[in-house]
Amino acid sequence: MTTTGTGPGVAHSPAPQDQLLIIFGATGDLAQRKLLPGLFHLAAAGMMPARYRIIGSGLPDDAPDTDGFRAHVRAAIDEYGRAGSGAGNWEPFAANLDFAPATPTEPQALLDAVNRAEQDLGGKVQRLIYLAVPPDAFVAIVQMLGSTGLGAGAKLVIEKPFGHDLASAKALNGELRAVFEEDRIYRIDHFLGKEAVQNILAFRFGNGLFESVWNADHIDHVQIDVPERLNIEGRAEFYEQTGAYRDMVVTHLFHLLGFLAMEAPTRLDAASLHEQAERVFQALNPVDPDRTILGQYVGYTAEPGVAADSTVETFVALIMEIDNPRWAGVPFQLRTGKAMAQSRHTITLTFIKAPQHLFGPADCTSGQETPNELIFELSDPASISISFRAKAPGADIRLDDASLNFHYADSFTAAHGLLGYERLLHDAMTGDHTLFTQAGGIERLWELSAPLLARPPVPLPYRQGSWGPAGADRLIAPARWHLPEPRGGRPWQS
Ligand code: BG6
Repeated sequence: MTTTGTGPGVAHSPAPQDQLLIIFGATGDLAQRKLLPGLFHLAAAGMMPARYRIIGSGLPDDAPDTDGFRAHVRAAIDEYGRAGSGAGNWEPFAANLDFAPATPTEPQALLDAVNRAEQDLGGKVQRLIYLAVPPDAFVAIVQMLGSTGLGAGAKLVIEKPFGHDLASAKALNGELRAVFEEDRIYRIDHFLGKEAVQNILAFRFGNGLFESVWNADHIDHVQIDVPERLNIEGRAEFYEQTGAYRDMVVTHLFHLLGFLAMEAPTRLDAASLHEQAERVFQALNPVDPDRTILGQYVGYTAEPGVAADSTVETFVALIMEIDNPRWAGVPFQLRTGKAMAQSRHTITLTFIKAPQHLFGPADCTSGQETPNELIFELSDPASISISFRAKAPGADIRLDDASLNFHYADSFTAAHGLLGYERLLHDAMTGDHTLFTQAGGIERLWELSAPLLARPPVPLPYRQGSWGPAGADRLIAPARWHLPEPRGGRPWQS
């Protein structure tokens, strides 16, 4: 991040230089749902470079022509964008769109389109290449980018999952570095682009109040819970190769854990943040198959494209521990799954109970001595709540559950916020690595995963629309998953 702001550790983003974006997989699911609507939003918000072009690319089979691609992009914006393509923003955006098919062995049409666009733009133009393709296509495309010179001087954004184990991640890093210097590689994990995730850093390090209790002396356990209602939604080919652990845990959930557990970085820049996240990963104990529950929703093997005898997991719950002075003995309980009861991104820090027993369960209206919890809800509408107990009005002293709540939507103008992919696309254009993941960290996470990958437990069946197999509840007992909230919500959830 380039610092132009006031605080010594704070950085502000500069405007991107003129840019040529090449998106491989431009007619695929990710481009349609996130990248193209995201770029349109950046353009509408005045956050694209003064001059840019976006060239979509993909296999020649059903490659659209330029008009066909523009129509595809417009439909994607109308279906998945935050606002429709209207209001005068579409025409100028559409004028910057082109499509050129390419295969690793037949890249000529793309090379021609790139030359044309760069000549049109003139002057100094940065090239940004985005690989929004299935992982098994990464290497062939990267080699083609090297042999054709398309990758020369360009930045590369690469999607997850980055490898499927330590050896493949290392091999992929080797292939990338044969064409791109490390500082031109952007390994994306869109969770790190979410406003509410970055707010964890702001909350921890921008306030004196919480950091002093952010440790094993005060925290009993931490939960990172990302259930999803959606099932694999036609992504069988991807999911059969990936499964929930590789799709969500080794990526999104572990990176959230890195933000939650890290020591204060000296600055909010890429080097300091990466260093601290990597230290957490170094201190993590390996994933223990005996403290991991895998699940598969009933009906998964009947999904089109899924093997009838598939043992791919659609649910994971596991306990991780960090072997350092701050966190020794504090279980980090992680859970995610498809086809569950709710879609949420909920982080809960449960505090140790008050040492002095002035008030027991009989003094509480609920009949239970509920501990203090700090709850980050990262899904929209994002919020932060602290639960505590307060005296219920009356002639005796009885305690009731109460809370302090912060709701993003009530406090800030949501329109100023960027969605995860928008933020990260903008950062890649400006050359800011801060919120991207690093080779060393990713390799360490695969190293930690080795025991589980070598000896995965058999996935337990669970009902669609449920909270996963009962084994996941037993795994963390006597603690309980914070979700689901009791019927009608917890008292502080307004
Ligand atoms: C993607 C996974 O990276 O993240 C998907 O491949 C998952 O399986 C998605 O559904 C969740 O992202 P979000 O931002 O919708 O929570």
